[in-house]
Amino acid sequence: MTIDEKVRKTLAELSPTDPKKLFDEVRAAMEQERNALISRGAASESERDNLCKELRDRWLARKNGLLSFVDENWLKASPKELKPLVGRNFNALRQESTALEVAALMKEVPLRAQAPAGREISISDAFSASDSVSAAVSYINREVPGDLTLPGNRRPLGSLHPVTQMQREIEEIFLNLGFRIESGPEIESVYYNFDALNIPESHPSRDDWDTLYIDSKTVLRTHTSPVQIRAMEKYGAPLYIIIPGKCYRHDNPDASHSPMFHQIEGLAIASDITFADLKGTLDFFAKKLFGEKIRTRFQPSFFPFTEPSGEVSISCIFCGGEGCRVCKESGWIEVMGCGMVHPQVLRNGGIDPEKYTGWAFGLGIDRFAMLMYDINDIQLFFQSDVRFLKQF
Ligand code: PHE
Repeated sequence: MTIDEKVRKTLAELSPTDPKKLFDEVRAAMEQERNALISRGAASESERDNLCKELRDRWLARKNGLLSFVDENWLKASPKELKPLVGRNFNALRQESTALEVAALMKEVPLRAQAPAGREISISDAFSASDSVSAAVSYINREVPGDLTLPGNRRPLGSLHPVTQMQREIEEIFLNLGFRIESGPEIESVYYNFDALNIPESHPSRDDWDTLYIDSKTVLRTHTSPVQIRAMEKYGAPLYIIIPGKCYRHDNPDASHSPMFHQIEGLAIASDITFADLKGTLDFFAKKLFGEKIRTRFQPSFFPFTEPSGEVSISCIFCGGEGCRVCKESGWIEVMGCGMVHPQVLRNGGIDPEKYTGWAFGLGIDRFAMLMYDINDIQLFFQSDVRFLKQF
């Protein structure tokens, strides 16, 4: 049904589930027709007069304007319980429809420049009108908007999302160390997400509580580690990659949890990689990112895909290690998990653990951005509130 037909029906006949949607449709049609006229422009002032009046009358004429039908058929005829809602929407529409008043339209609709009369004839005569010449001529004579030297309509410039900025900063450091960026699917098989990473069937992270299952063999990846295996299979050793990307867990959103979040995985495999390389690289990375004064601390931890495994903390970037609110008086902030790639994981990726060793780490980009920009609620990243985003 066209918008013209719709406004001629009563609300009861249309029986919408959501009357607001009907109004949205009218609004969209109105805007579309207005924009079409503006981008079309007019060839002369009198044509502009006529086109603007025509559009205005079509929508706003007291008698038989489209809005008069909306008034009659939707508002006046609406059942009592819908009146307040319909009334509110109608008022908003009325307000917006002032953009269709002739004076307002005239300001927006541009006059198109006219090609000087006779040009086409003289040029095509001169070149005895071959196909390419006539194509060139119609190009020269194409309808162009008025004065091309006038400034155009500027759209406000956006900026990169803070999480993206953080990601790029981290990437930059590793790219300079010779790492390459690799990626993998967010919808992942249980094999890559768990089995190949040596995560046993009984591991609690496989539980529905932590993992979002699509079916019994498919999950939304819970970390970026599955891409370790995919990359080993694809490139073999030696391998120096980082893997940024989205991950998903069955977490309720709160100030420090989000069911979707971002990680960067690091993986280095070569014939002589040791834990010292891991410590050196991550210490260098922390100093590059947070400043030369930052110290790192490695503590034993456990991940099924690394052996030994570690947990990395940095000295508190807010108090320098004295103890404060952010580091909970400990002087340290835990920032990532890491370890030497488990021999079985290398084997699963088709790499011989007798010949090669490697290290890996995984960190949360959102957490890093929260630290870097002193943000205490992860939800702010995902609410798309311009007042927040504008600050970056
Ligand atoms: N994948 C782990 C996590 O999501 C992090 C990690 C990656 C730990 C690589 C060690 C090595 O918690």
